[in-house]
Amino acid sequence: MHDYDLLVVGSANADLVTAVERRPGAGETVLGSDLAVHPGGKGANQAVAAGRLGARTALLARVGDDAYGRLLLDSQRSAGVDTVGVLVGGAPTGVALITVDPSGDNSIVVAPGANARLTPQDVRAAAHLFEAARVVSVQLEIPLETVAEVARTLPAGTRLVLNPSPPAPLPDEVLGACDPLVVNEHEARVILRGAGAEVPDEPEDWARRLLDLGPRSVVVTLGGAGALVAGPDGTARVPSVQVDAVDTTGAGDAFTAALAWRLGVGEDLETAARYAAQVGALAVTRAGAQVSYPSGDEVAALGAAGGSAGGPVDGSAGGSAGGSAAR
Ligand code: RIB
Repeated sequence: MHDYDLLVVGSANADLVTAVERRPGAGETVLGSDLAVHPGGKGANQAVAAGRLGARTALLARVGDDAYGRLLLDSQRSAGVDTVGVLVGGAPTGVALITVDPSGDNSIVVAPGANARLTPQDVRAAAHLFEAARVVSVQLEIPLETVAEVARTLPAGTRLVLNPSPPAPLPDEVLGACDPLVVNEHEARVILRGAGAEVPDEPEDWARRLLDLGPRSVVVTLGGAGALVAGPDGTARVPSVQVDAVDTTGAGDAFTAALAWRLGVGEDLETAARYAAQVGALAVTRAGAQVSYPSGDEVAALGAAGGSAGGPVDGSAGGSAGGSAAR
């Protein structure tokens, strides 16, 4: 019996967001809108997304003993996430500096703060949370040695979902534990190059090369072209969902959380990715990351309305009126 459908191990940031007419180039200053402060961070985002969908979710993360840390804890609790694994103190809460342009696309710089102090020892001390989870999801805004410890701590039969964002070359023990590895085009290129592999032209070939590196399955998000799922039985395309993009921040985290949850309750990769694309699509229709995430009822309504083909599945604005899920 598992107490949690999903355990998320990852970062928690205060997102300091300003809207700009265009994002500045090197050496340039632009004026933005008044500042908005939202709860964010790729790990905390995933946990809130899953919690709002109805998944029994826990978060293992570290925040500072400060107002941003309390903002993040409040957001987790409001979404029904178990915060027993959220450690407090050691450094100030992580901060993400975010600009959003009129297309809804963003640029993000993260000051890691407490996220950089989430250690392998913290993972070992939370072994009971791993034992209680069907699926564990992790990203790369925490130290890579901590991510490697997550792979080592994973109980037999527990599934690991990894979104390597921001991307970095990955050790074999991490790659070999992924089921799936969830990447966009940029992340796919970094992982392949880091492993000394060639980067082919076609997404199907990226997925096959990535599978050769050890993951049991791979999901590649493709912006306006939807997503690609790949495993031992072959590859399949998943269409994107047409919506009007307002802010793509955190849409990829919502996509990955929904995917991880649905895999944990027994769906196959393609079915879970179709559901996740709907979740990510809804997330881009509102400003902010966690504050934009839909409830399970909203996703069901989108599905009933026939939400299927259209805008980008990876949270990129995609150069169209449609935007949706996964970055
Ligand atoms: O993926 C979006 C997230 O990236 C933001 O919430 C920000 O905190 C950064 O971690």
